[in-house]
Amino acid sequence: MSATMYPNYSPGLEGVIGGITTISDIISETSTLVYRGYNVHDLASHGSFEETAYLLLFGHLPDRKELESFMATLAAEREVPAQVYTALQQLPPSTHPMDIARLGFAAYAPFDPDYNEPATNHDANLRKAVRIVAKASTIVGNGHRIRTGKAPLAPKPEHTIAQNFLYLVNGVEPDAETAHVMDSSLTLYAEHGFNASTFACRVCVATLSDLYSGICAGIGTLRGPLHGGANEEAMHMLQKIGTPDKADAWIHNALANKDKIMGFGHREYKKQDPRAIYMTKVAKALGEKTGDTKWGQIADILENVMATEKNIHPNVDFPAAYAYYLLGIPIDLYTPIFVVARTSGWTAHMVEQLDNNRLIRPKCIYEGPTSETWVPVDER
Ligand code: SDX
Repeated sequence: MSATMYPNYSPGLEGVIGGITTISDIISETSTLVYRGYNVHDLASHGSFEETAYLLLFGHLPDRKELESFMATLAAEREVPAQVYTALQQLPPSTHPMDIARLGFAAYAPFDPDYNEPATNHDANLRKAVRIVAKASTIVGNGHRIRTGKAPLAPKPEHTIAQNFLYLVNGVEPDAETAHVMDSSLTLYAEHGFNASTFACRVCVATLSDLYSGICAGIGTLRGPLHGGANEEAMHMLQKIGTPDKADAWIHNALANKDKIMGFGHREYKKQDPRAIYMTKVAKALGEKTGDTKWGQIADILENVMATEKNIHPNVDFPAAYAYYLLGIPIDLYTPIFVVARTSGWTAHMVEQLDNNRLIRPKCIYEGPTSETWVPVDER
């Protein structure tokens, strides 16, 4: 039967309220995203990712003393035990960095001194959340080093999370502009309400399971191309198109085949994704600076066709794709960067869920066969 036969059922839970949060709000009509009331454009252009992570976890922007103490804690918690690297070294070199990230958190979990604290211990949950945010860039960055046959590097305490990620991936100190682009992209990617991976995290801890199991659920959910995996797929698409003169024919052929155009569309935003607006400016500026403007030119053509012919707009993953490409970041690290950022939103939501928990267990409609008669196996 079609979904319309059931008045209180919506496929994919589209339009269904899954909970109440004070962490972020997506205002589709005005293409606005706020984290605890602050516009994400202000946070990305004036603040640091660390200030955003603090805001998401503790509910207010830190003052100077709070920020310095938070940065010191993040620096102190940045490294993981050598056993985690040993676990990662067991994986085949072809392992996708998202699977490396998932194993990294699963391997670290039992080393967390608060791991066995009761699931509803708010202060222990915040301590675990800070450790998860602190270690994400190290797990992804050193995980990349290990899969490319390099030894993990010791994180530097003076680095920000963005600098730590870039330093571990490239093995050299990042320049200030690259670090700033990475930092603002982490803020844009940090949090987005009840998206699929955040909802997966909330469902997981709502059983009173632990934050690390929630993070593994989040990573597993984010890796799909309909969700976080879209930024990698978007760059592969741009490379397939190759030059601006091929873009118009390519997009029309793809639409004629009813293909999903990666990096476009959104369940919540029916107009523009405010993060895409911000990230497009960053990506275009990088194109001008490097002289490699063709990706921005191809993007303009795709965006124009999608907007005028389908009324579908780019989401954050589309400009992030060619911005990261212009920064020289390996394509299969794009979604893991999303993980580095979203650990702040995921943990904030898990803490919020556990502070006022109720098991998440929806109903379903049964359309299978009824009253079947048992037949012994040799008579079937
Ligand atoms: C993220 O939820 C979040 O907040 C996620 C996120 C976050 O920060 O956590 O914002 C991050 O996941 C962004 C989205 C990344 N994914 C992609 O870019 C993949 C491509 N996008 C689509 O698959 C799609 O737009 C979704 C999955 C993002 C949203 O899909 P919906 O809401 O289920 O919409 P739909 O698939 O039902 O599409 C409605 C119509 C369909 O046309 P009809 O069949 O009705 O004729 O719009 C069309 C779709 O075919 N459509 C697209 C399209 N997106 C929608 N057609 C071509 N290309 C697309 N990208």
